[in-house]
Amino acid sequence: MRYEIVRVAPEAVAEFVRGHERAARSAFYGFPVIWHEQAYDLAAMDGERVAGTARIRVAASLAHVERVVVAPEHRKRGVGRALLASASDAANYYNCHKMTVLVPLGGAAQRFFERCDFHQEAVLPQHTFKLDMAVLRKFLL
Ligand SMILES: CC(C)(COP(=O)(O)OP(=O)(O)OC[C@H]1O[C@@H](n2cnc3c(N)ncnc32)[C@H](O)[C@@H]1OP(=O)(O)O)[C@@H](O)C(=O)NCCC(=O)NCCS
Repeated sequence: MRYEIVRVAPEAVAEFVRGHERAARSAFYGFPVIWHEQAYDLAAMDGERVAGTARIRVAASLAHVERVVVAPEHRKRGVGRALLASASDAANYYNCHKMTVLVPLGGAAQRFFERCDFHQEAVLPQHTFKLDMAVLRKFLL
């Protein structure tokens, strides 16, 4: 083969990606795609201090919850639920039809998200750290 596959820094392929991404994504999805991806961070403030935070990544009409963390001393007071509610508002604003999150199957995080109106959609066997992971979702709009 005349091609040599090498490891590169992201900058080394940035121009190539810019040149091909739109056509490649459109071919992949089967319709014209303009890709826009953005992460949004939220914080629950206790006065000047951060009691908790959440991050969603929005792309392709989907908001993925990348993180929700509440400091142990602030847990079980509705902070996590309030962060998810704000995340839903942001996702709605950016025209997402759905939020998703990946959690260890049957664990505390799954119970938390299910109390916050997320539902199990699929199980990915032996996934993150070889754990079975549940894909949870909440429809918006
Ligand atoms: C999961 C976490 C974000 C929950 O935050 P929180 O502020 O304590 O949650 P809330 O008080 O808003 O609880 C919302 C609902 O979930 C339930 N819940 C919260 N933690 C729970 C747990 N560990 N097990 C079962 N249910 C739980 C609450 O009882 C509440 O239900 P209700 O209002 O219907 O009675 C927090 O425990 C945490 O930071 N954990 C470590 C990080 C993590 O696992 N993040 C999630 C994946 S990114």
